[in-house]
Amino acid sequence: MSWTLTVNQEKHTLTEDKRLIDFLREDLGLTSVKDGCSEGACGTCSVVVDGRLVKACIMKVSRFDGARITTVEGLSAREKEVYVHSFAETGAVQCGFCTPGMVMAAKVLLDKNPQPSREEIAKAITGNLCRCTGYKKIIDAIEMAGHYLHTGKHVPVLDPQARVGDRSQRVDVMEKVLGTGKFPDDYQFDDMVYGQALRTRYPRARVNRIDISKALEHPDCITVLTAKDVPNNTIGHIVQDWDVMIPEGQVTRYIGDAVALVASETRESLQAILDLIEVDYTELEPMLDPFQAMAEGAPKIHEKGNILSSERLIRGDAHKAVAEAAHVVTETYEVSWEEHAFLEPECAIAWPSEDGGVHMITASQSIYDEQREVSNMLQIEPEKVHIRSGLVGGAFGGREDMSVQHHAALLAWKTGRRVNVRLSRYDSTIVHTKRHPMVMKMTTSCDGQGRVTALIAEIIADTGAYASLGGPVTQRACTHAGGPYNFQNVDITGKAVYTNNVVSGAFRGFGVTQSCYAMESNLNLLAEKCGMDPWDFRYLNVVRPGDVLPNGQIVDQSCGLAECLEAVKEAYQSGPYTGLACGFKNSGLGVGVPDFGRCTLSVENGKVHIRTSAACSGQGVAQMVTSIVCQTLDCQVTDTVFEMPDTDRTPDAGTSTASRQTLFTGEATRQAAQDLKEAIEAVDGDLSKLEGREFFGEFGPPTDPLGSDKENPVSHIGYSYGCEVTVLDEKGKIQKMVGAYDVGTPVNITAVEGQIEGGCVMGLGYALTEDFVNPGGIPKFKLGTYGLFRANQVPQIETHIVKGPGYVDYAYGARGVGELACVPIAPSVAHAYYRLDGKMRTSLPMEDTFYRKKK
Ligand code: FES
Ligand code: FES
Repeated sequence: MSWTLTVNQEKHTLTEDKRLIDFLREDLGLTSVKDGCSEGACGTCSVVVDGRLVKACIMKVSRFDGARITTVEGLSAREKEVYVHSFAETGAVQCGFCTPGMVMAAKVLLDKNPQPSREEIAKAITGNLCRCTGYKKIIDAIEMAGHYLHTGKHVPVLDPQARVGDRSQRVDVMEKVLGTGKFPDDYQFDDMVYGQALRTRYPRARVNRIDISKALEHPDCITVLTAKDVPNNTIGHIVQDWDVMIPEGQVTRYIGDAVALVASETRESLQAILDLIEVDYTELEPMLDPFQAMAEGAPKIHEKGNILSSERLIRGDAHKAVAEAAHVVTETYEVSWEEHAFLEPECAIAWPSEDGGVHMITASQSIYDEQREVSNMLQIEPEKVHIRSGLVGGAFGGREDMSVQHHAALLAWKTGRRVNVRLSRYDSTIVHTKRHPMVMKMTTSCDGQGRVTALIAEIIADTGAYASLGGPVTQRACTHAGGPYNFQNVDITGKAVYTNNVVSGAFRGFGVTQSCYAMESNLNLLAEKCGMDPWDFRYLNVVRPGDVLPNGQIVDQSCGLAECLEAVKEAYQSGPYTGLACGFKNSGLGVGVPDFGRCTLSVENGKVHIRTSAACSGQGVAQMVTSIVCQTLDCQVTDTVFEMPDTDRTPDAGTSTASRQTLFTGEATRQAAQDLKEAIEAVDGDLSKLEGREFFGEFGPPTDPLGSDKENPVSHIGYSYGCEVTVLDEKGKIQKMVGAYDVGTPVNITAVEGQIEGGCVMGLGYALTEDFVNPGGIPKFKLGTYGLFRANQVPQIETHIVKGPGYVDYAYGARGVGELACVPIAPSVAHAYYRLDGKMRTSLPMEDTFYRKKK
């Protein structure tokens, strides 16, 4: 048998049947075709087949005999310039993993209907998921592309200007739209072999024996490794408690645990080799409830016990204040897991380095975290682990821990081969962390005039099998439990508890998303008790410059939360079923943890190279630092070169977490640029005289630890503030989300809007539809049915970017935005439903709504 397909005008004849995506990606090297799920759910593999949109991951080439197939690479030059410009101009690209698939969906629509309505566009891309953008700007882009294609209008050339506070186009947009930019799995090498882990069959089981003998006999098998092959089997981001593989005789802790690691000559034979490994288990009852895990006599998941961390924050006398209050509300709230669902499944490629270490291509939130973890595992010097980042297909906190990097490095180190380890969508889901489930009991009180007086909170977080960032996440849930309000009496306790569930860790909002939902819902009940409108109640109680946050920190002059409330007042008063919530989020690790942003600028071949390890997982780090350099030097984008993170070239800028890179690495970049500017002035503007010179910036002012005895400790260098209004119709369908956010100076307005829109839609999923089902500790997960919002479900989103009265002179006044927009969404939605039907929904995802019926 043979089949002939015409791909991008070229004929190809195949005699071996295979999935269309494998033919396009691996045989033809068409990297615009992305494999986000292999299950027909995400649309990242979309191609055009005889004018129809087809997902290339599902069907085999034999189904396409005689077909004409177009990928982004095969678009006309005119189409390419139109899509690049439209996606750039509207800010429709973030991580870029969904983008080529979106372009294909747009092409099919626009070829038939050159002037579609926004509803028609949303419908046309319903099969294509985007986890980053919230779809609004993608719809804008397709509308704009239709206009150019229909009218034949000239596409403007790329504007080389970028300044702080403008809407300049992202510097990485072209490679992402055209699919030429490389995520790790897009790198092809002739000598590449493939690795995969065998994972436990049970969340909790004793591994009695692992027999690899049959697997080793498979003709494609290069090696099978177990725990005894690992120099140091225990790794972990902060607490080293995570086994690289579970050794014989030990007990598994969750369903994602690896027990063996295989390297194979081909990707296709990996599963067959894994199937030949025989593992004898004794199944044990998993502990899936944190309260059960805290009970006396509960089996210990880790040697030191089942409580990972405990927090207690006390200011004033909350119990006395509650006893004396005019009004008190006590309610318990419960939230479930949330899956990051970034669209690029984890992949890392590793190969031996000349100095006895490894080279790696990865996609994470910090190449230096990876370097530290891999060197710790291999017990070699960190400098021998050379990591460069590929593009990162979304992260949202889910790429802070090791997933594939350590396994790829170990296989390469042991075999001397170049090894690609990539997770399937299901393995990605069980391996990387989730948003913490929490049970939160909140008591809030106010006086007769509606001024808040006290908060007593008890928070229990299910941190799953390993520490990951469970300690800091629970701490942040506690430190922000009082919200941005004038609570001067607080008693907040929190515990992160190990269970045999999937691991919980960092996720956009970092614990604040959870405690904000509980606090804001409680405040609405409190406002009602004291007979006040929830907007007025908040306006009375939110912090303003000079006030003191519940953690004791004095609010700086840039805080514009009251102004945010003013910006959404009209929307809040626009109908009977509106809901309101406020939120705030720190920028930076804070609480005394050393935290540095760093950037090196070097003059090379007449250009300014911008070198920082700050990871861009879609939020636009390259754009942010480029704008700051161009602003400071008064130069053009074309005078600069942004380098991808590389441990051999770029300084450690810390992890892209805690909404910190804009403030920390932004300020470090400004300082380096300022030094360069002075040097340029000293040579009368002749950059060639500085050839080879480097200018280094570092920013990391100290903060005070929790429990500091200062009256007004500085817990964090900056905070961003915001509020959100949900507008429901009488059927409970969301008509509109109206948000106002104070993030200081928006370095790039389009990018800030994009973060807010994406965070809003992610927050809507968390509130309403994303249901992570985990019976018996074994997730039942399919990307297509998990409950991610699709383009045709997204309501109108209106964003106000608000500034406070003052200015803090770091990074041109910028603060972080990445997490904040996700924070107030769920309580705002809960409030709107409360006003619709009188039921305060105290658990997430909410039941009995337009989006999800009662179970
Ligand atoms: S990879 Fe084909 S639909 Fe997700
Ligand atoms: S830009 Fe759409 S998934 Fe990241």
